Amino acid sequence: MNTQAPATTSVAWPFVPSPRVVDVTHAKGCTLYTRGGGEILDAAGGAIVSNIGHGRAEVGEAMAAAMTSMSYAVPPFLTPERSRLMERLRRYWLPEKLTRTYLASGGSEAVDAACRLAIQHFRAKGNETRWKIISRDISYHGTTFFTLGVAGHVARKKGFEKLIPHMPQVPTPYALRAPGGRHDPDYDIAAAQALEDTILREGPETVAAFLAEPITGSSGGALMPGARYWPKVREICDRYGVLLISDEVMVGFGRTGKRFACEHFGFTPDIMISGKGFAGGYAPIVGVFATDEVVAPLADTGQSLMFYTYGAHPGACAAAEKVLQILEDEGLVARAAAQGAALMERLEALLGQHPNVAEIRGEGLFRGLEIVKDRETLEPFPESAGIANRIVGAGLKRGVFFYGGGTGAVRDIVCLGPAFIVSDSELDRMAETLKAAIDDAVGSAK
Ligand SMILES: Cc1ncc(COP(=O)(O)O)c(C=O)c1O
Repeated sequence: MNTQAPATTSVAWPFVPSPRVVDVTHAKGCTLYTRGGGEILDAAGGAIVSNIGHGRAEVGEAMAAAMTSMSYAVPPFLTPERSRLMERLRRYWLPEKLTRTYLASGGSEAVDAACRLAIQHFRAKGNETRWKIISRDISYHGTTFFTLGVAGHVARKKGFEKLIPHMPQVPTPYALRAPGGRHDPDYDIAAAQALEDTILREGPETVAAFLAEPITGSSGGALMPGARYWPKVREICDRYGVLLISDEVMVGFGRTGKRFACEHFGFTPDIMISGKGFAGGYAPIVGVFATDEVVAPLADTGQSLMFYTYGAHPGACAAAEKVLQILEDEGLVARAAAQGAALMERLEALLGQHPNVAEIRGEGLFRGLEIVKDRETLEPFPESAGIANRIVGAGLKRGVFFYGGGTGAVRDIVCLGPAFIVSDSELDRMAETLKAAIDDAVGSAK
């Protein structure tokens, strides 16, 4: 085992020593500046987080004002920052029925809380048999033991199988590799039907919730369900009294060109989780949003949903409120739709017929590419070739950061998710560099 920190870094970072350390000193807009004078154009907004771009002083000022007024208050207390944020969320952002907000600091803990909420909801109603959370086979919901367990990310679960919960899973709609054949027109209906079959097989009286991403994040590379999928899923959940939990950690707050991805498909979940873009990377904050009906049994029985110490931190709330205001004032959700279409045009023009690109998919400024050895047969590269990692590495060498994805079983995925302020010339550079990085990576793997 190599216990030596690599020579490339003189500080103990990252936690597990890595030969490739990117040393970023500051950032502006979509560009990261590195020690020694280098620049990286960020085509991924970090981990699909940055939406208003870096360097907006007014967000820092809002946080400073909050922090000099009060450093901390336990999450159930009301503070001016929490109050203003709730008002803005209600006035402009949240689907009408999602009236209740719980705040966590990260996606994993928020998904964990959402699943706890679903089970607590039934227990508070005197129903102790509904405890199963059905999820999907290609998904990512976080890295706590519980969220790893419900997620469908084989690579990240590996080695923890004995400790994580094993919940029923159903297929993620995956048009390119549909069981009925490539782009089988009924793939969406078949995937929704699998949910109903699973609920019936498990016993509806045992199922608390169905948890899924409306557009699959980096685990599947922006997998888009067909138009009929979500309405049918909503109908099935209603039929069997199963709560619908929508994980919009990656795709919410304007990322896909609408406030939330569920708006593309015309459904409202019972519980929605959304983060990453909530405070645009300026502060850690993720929301769990729920209907009155979900929360009422807890209130009726005098229960609370246990908080995380740093949930709803006033500084994070102030940052989120300011970022949401900027998104509104500058029309950035519409810009995400427009620049997303412009990005797709460029990707299609340069890579649409590339022999190693099976599909380019997604919505707004969240796009995923699936890289294959053979575009006709869809044969993937062997996992050992690490193609997605090679592409990310080749992109960085050329000064652009892309976000690798896949689950081990699903490979090789590369995602793009730049800030909504991205310019046309930056989009040109992202698409051109991605093509060069794919060619470099495929060439070096031969
Ligand atoms: C859909 C989804 N859910 C949950 C998470 C976990 O969030 P976090 O990394 O903030 O814990 C992620 C992270 O990428 C995600 O994409």
